[in-house]
Amino acid sequence: MHVSFQHRRQRLLAQLGDAIAILPTAPEVIRNGDAHYPYRGDSHFLYLTGFSEPEAVLVLDGKAGKALLFCRDKNPDSEIWDGFRYGPAAAEAFGFDEAYSIVELDQRLPPLLAEHAALYWAVGRDTGWDARIAGYLQQARQQARVGKDAPQQYGDLLALIDEMRLLKDEREIAVLQQAGRISAEAHVRAMQACRPGMMEYQIEAELLHHFVRNGARQPAYESIVAGGANACTLHYAANNARLNDGDLLLIDAGCEFNGYAGDITRTFPVNGRFSGAQRDVYEVVLAAQLAAIAAVQPGARLDAPADAALRVLVQGMLDLKLLAGSVDGVIESGDYRRFYMHGIGHFIGLDVHDVGARRPGGPWRSFESGMCTTIEPGLYIRPDDRVPAVFHNIGIRIEDNVLVTDDGHQVYTDDVPKRIDDIEALMKQH
Ligand code: GLY
Ligand code: MN
Ligand code: MN
Repeated sequence: MHVSFQHRRQRLLAQLGDAIAILPTAPEVIRNGDAHYPYRGDSHFLYLTGFSEPEAVLVLDGKAGKALLFCRDKNPDSEIWDGFRYGPAAAEAFGFDEAYSIVELDQRLPPLLAEHAALYWAVGRDTGWDARIAGYLQQARQQARVGKDAPQQYGDLLALIDEMRLLKDEREIAVLQQAGRISAEAHVRAMQACRPGMMEYQIEAELLHHFVRNGARQPAYESIVAGGANACTLHYAANNARLNDGDLLLIDAGCEFNGYAGDITRTFPVNGRFSGAQRDVYEVVLAAQLAAIAAVQPGARLDAPADAALRVLVQGMLDLKLLAGSVDGVIESGDYRRFYMHGIGHFIGLDVHDVGARRPGGPWRSFESGMCTTIEPGLYIRPDDRVPAVFHNIGIRIEDNVLVTDDGHQVYTDDVPKRIDDIEALMKQH
């Protein structure tokens, strides 16, 4: 079970050479009073450890080639209240070379740093740890007098891990696919439940019900359940309006399953039947999405899907008389941004907007087998005298999650329909 985590640590150690690396997990966060937000470890830390308790630090000792965990001690009194803790027995359970109590960190780190010429950490990401590590370095320099050198070279640990996380391994792909499947089923449930007169939050409840029932205790991000004009607010999350007969409903929601995110958007009619104008706009967005997905190929540049989608969207805007001119002219001027103002998608993994440099050092990189991306074009038509009134307040986005494979791609969130006929057929059954 923990072999893949061990393997990742070994790959990172190989890159570190003689350096030492320090990687704390995320802190617990108070929500209000003495109640906490649900605890979620740091994604980089989880990627390398699989260890989900708070107050833990991973240290990779490049010289010794060892992975060390510092974690909470066992504490029978606390465990009565808050549940099981591994304590340093985590070493065996998670395959670390050594594990120590977190209270030993301050004492053990400086002499360990003094053994290494280079230090990697999450530079500049978390001021608390920057200051702490500066303190350890000062102590290590004092110890350098007795024949050891403190690190003189510093590097950004996350840049190394980001590159690893960009290419998903087999275990990650299986978990992502499961997150995608549960998320897709939740969207189906929402489509089936939707009726005019319901509240947006009642549809949100259908999504959350399906997530939790399937072991995905949290959504990967705040669910967007946006009826009618609310769909034109890109990050709408109030979810407290009534759903009107004749309006569309845009749902952007995905679960987090075993740490990995799903991120799906569907837009469908509240009453189960698209109007003529809704249909016209929808077909443009769907065609753009399909064109963009077709452009996700190993070896294709990362910006190929955006270009493919944009041409289809702009042609559609011209056909619908939202804009006038030529496709190239509108792309050149950027006028399309009145109706399409976000990117085509993002990597997805442990984080919904996952890590990975898209243009390392300048030029776009290419898709490689094992990358996972969303494809999510949209059109959002706010009331505007220059636009035919039938289109006012129509907001449509269609989003799927796509794995790059050796010979193409796999859309693994397609258990929820997106063709108009399929959506109407599904909703008619209920
Ligand atoms: N749900 C966030 C996004 O689509 O990027
Ligand atoms: Mn989304
Ligand atoms: Mn997305």
